[in-house]
Formats: sequence, structure tokens, C-alpha cells
Amino acid sequence: MDARLAETIESFDDSFARGLSEGLRRAQKEIPCKYFYDAEGSALFEAICALPEYYQTRTEVALLRRHAAEIAGLIGARAEIVEFGAGSARKVRILLDALESPHGYSPIDISGAYLRGVVQRLAADYPRLRLAPLAGDFTLPLQLPALAGAARRAGFFPGGTIGNFTPDAAMALLRRMREMLGGGGLLVGVDLVKDPALLHAAYNDAAGITAAFNKNLLARANRELAADFDLDAFAHYAPYNPKAQRIEMYLVSLKRQSARLPDGMVEFSAGEAIHTEDSHKYSIESFREIAARAGFSPRAVWTDENRLFSLHWLEAR
Ligand SMILES: C[S@@+](CC[C@H](N)C(=O)[O-])C[C@H]1O[C@@H](n2cnc3c(N)ncnc32)[C@H](O)[C@@H]1O
Repeated sequence: MDARLAETIESFDDSFARGLSEGLRRAQKEIPCKYFYDAEGSALFEAICALPEYYQTRTEVALLRRHAAEIAGLIGARAEIVEFGAGSARKVRILLDALESPHGYSPIDISGAYLRGVVQRLAADYPRLRLAPLAGDFTLPLQLPALAGAARRAGFFPGGTIGNFTPDAAMALLRRMREMLGGGGLLVGVDLVKDPALLHAAYNDAAGITAAFNKNLLARANRELAADFDLDAFAHYAPYNPKAQRIEMYLVSLKRQSARLPDGMVEFSAGEAIHTEDSHKYSIESFREIAARAGFSPRAVWTDENRLFSLHWLEAR
């Protein structure tokens, strides 16, 4: 397992330079949000999950705990769980503990070095579970590692990560996941539309961890690519756009400046923004429509009493 994981980590890491250069040379500068996640970014995301303002993680964890037995029944015995964007793989432990004889677990994550540590801890805690980790980008065609002997495969896509895609791209991604899984079901966590003040607070925490997470894109470029971004000369800015029903995240240049990239300089005017992430919010109904367009039959859905977050069980048609 480790040699293959190391190989995928290595072949994968070099896309950041290209993504950064291309994104910063667009008329509207952007850096794709998948590049937030090197080992440092993954650790910062974990810190975000523990913030008082970040209701998503504790609400989704509570939903998983409350409905674990029912979810396990829907997934069935001897299943292989494929997780898209596994991060710390904390949430899947709730499923693994509830499932009947789980056969295997295949975490996919772009943050390869972080994934390696996560898999080591899982192997120690679940010695009978077959592990088939994959360092890679789940938006690209991926060959899922073969895990022989599972009775069925189920996808797991928690964390509201689906919100990082526009509704059309989310539909296309769900369709690709359905194909990758080869049928079966998908359990997906979706953040819901709500009071914009709550959303604003969640992405603008008092401790400044989300700001550090956002700026990690530039810090990562300095570390990995010998770029020379002045981190203090960019501001974290994350407003809610009620018309598009999404949080938009930017790094705003506080002055006229330039930065060195591996393939040349890039200029910023004062006030110019780099778009770094969108996080779309859905109603339960609008998400079920997208899932249906992607070829799933939306089945069970669970939400908390304040309707902050939702968990959807989708079955491939
Ligand atoms: C919002 S975090 C969610 C983490 C975890 N699933 C949770 O619910 O707490 C997104 C995760 O997906 C990974 N990720 C983001 N974009 C990805 C991509 N295109 N391909 C693979 N992994 C990706 C990140 O490294 C990160 O671990």
C-alpha cells in the first residue's frame, strides 16, 4: 500500500506550479481551491473544523452519530467505502463503527502527505480493514484501487465539499462519482442556505484561522515554488453573495505590488482580488434536484433541528 501511495503522491504534487501560474495570469486572477490542501492547509482545515463559528463539522458529526445505524442498514454489510476528499477521515470512523463487517476503505485526497499519516493511524485502529488510499484529484478521471471481495461499494462525500463547485459542475461531478463507483450509493454532506450572518461568521472567524487557511495558498507558493508573496500585503475577504447563494473567498492586494513565480513576475494593482474559493449553499430540494439530474435517486435525507446542514443518501439509478 505505502509504495503505491508514495508514487501517487509524488506524481501528483507538481500540478500546483501550473495551476498557480495559469490562474494568476487570468483577467480575474484566481487560484483553484483544491490547492489549499498541502499538509499545512489540511492541518489548518482541521483547526477550522473545531472553531465555534464553524457549525458545519459539529452538525454533520452529530447527524452521522444520530443516524449511524440507519445509514449502516442502507449501505449494507461487507461494503467498501470510497471517500472523496477524506481529510482527517474522522467522520468515516463513525460509519466504520456502525457498519456490519466493513470490507475496506478507499480514501481519496489531493493532500497526499497528510493522507499518508491519516492512513497510518487508521491502520493501527482498524487492523482488519483493507485500506486502499489514493493521492489524487477526484475531479479528474481516476482509477479506483481494486479491493476484491467487497459485497458492495458506497461513496462518502462529507464536509460540504460539493459546495465548492458551481451547481452545474456539482452535477457533473456527482455523475462522474456515480460512474466511478459503478452503481451503489453515495452519502453526501451538503451545507444549507441560512441567515447570512451565520455564514459570514463561519468564514470570518475571530481567531483568524480561515484567513490563515486562505493565505496558505501564497505561503505554500513561497515554500514550494520559491515565490516571494508578502503575506501581510494581502487581506482575507469572504463575503456572502445572496443572489448566487454562496460564500466567495478572495485574497485582496492591499497595495500595488508584484510577486515572483517560477515562470516570471505577476503584477497586482491596489485592491485587486484573487478569487480563491466559492462555497455554494443549497436547500434540501435544490440539492435533490441536482442529484437526480446526475442520475441518482435521492432517498433518505437527514437534517438538524435548525436546518443548518444536511446529509443525503443517494442511490444510483
Ligand atoms: C472541506 S475539506 C473536507 C475534509 C473531510 N472530508 C471533512 O468532512 O472534514 C475538503 C477535503 O477534500 C480534499 N480535496 C479538495 N479538493 C480535492 C480534489 N479535487 N481531489 C481530491 N481531494 C480534494 C482536501 O484535501 C480536503 O481534505
